[in-house]
Amino acid sequence: MKLTEGKSRQVFATESEDEVRVFHKDDETAYNGIKHVIIPGKGIIINKISAILYETLERNGIATHYIRTIDDRQQLCRKVDPIRLEFIVRNYAAGDMTERLDVKTGTKLSIPVVECCYKSDELDDPIINRSYAIALGMASREELDLIEEELGHINLVLTSLFHEVGIKLVDFKVEFGRLADGTLLVCDELSPDSCRLWDEQTDDSMDRDRFRYDLGNVGEMYEEVLRRLSNFINE
Ligand code: CDP
Repeated sequence: MKLTEGKSRQVFATESEDEVRVFHKDDETAYNGIKHVIIPGKGIIINKISAILYETLERNGIATHYIRTIDDRQQLCRKVDPIRLEFIVRNYAAGDMTERLDVKTGTKLSIPVVECCYKSDELDDPIINRSYAIALGMASREELDLIEEELGHINLVLTSLFHEVGIKLVDFKVEFGRLADGTLLVCDELSPDSCRLWDEQTDDSMDRDRFRYDLGNVGEMYEEVLRRLSNFINE
């Protein structure tokens, strides 16, 4: 039974009440789904990159929803109650931030910037602050404290992994969900669709911006990210 369908993933129930099957589709979207294309085989690449990223987080003591890869396109994950917030961590200025604050793309931020957004396609995921999130019952103060600490840790782990393969982690988006006992887990998409990745030598985009800004070779660049990560992991 299908539980939910997003822009690039479908989530199915399994025989276990505590687990779900996440299926990666070939759809590539931008601007809240307004721009859309099918890239044949993309879901297979995303499935592999996402597994490497989730396994790296787990190895470094970060609790995530990922359990294991099932096949080419699917992962088995723990079922969580999703928190309706998206957290963006930025190491360099890019995208929305450059337009909102008139900061030059690529500016190195002296500390990582964390943004909290209310997850709503209708409202275009507006940025909110902690007090809104607490006041509107989206997360507790304690949860937000834990999440903030975890975001710093995730940023260090992923920045260092990508640096090993010659890629700058410019920014990324993560989400969290709760288990029945309240434990927080990183969940949802984790791939070049939800990160900005720039080649360290050339500053070329290796992520969804290739599609957003019509830079071409989207699938090829995703394959290159996978090739570098797989070589490093298998070294
Ligand atoms: O990408 P855009 O300029 O619209 O927004 P952003 O706030 O600059 O995005 C920061 C990072 O979060 C980028 O790596 C996006 O791909 C990612 N993001 C995402 O995965 N999903 C969203 N709903 C919003 C941002």
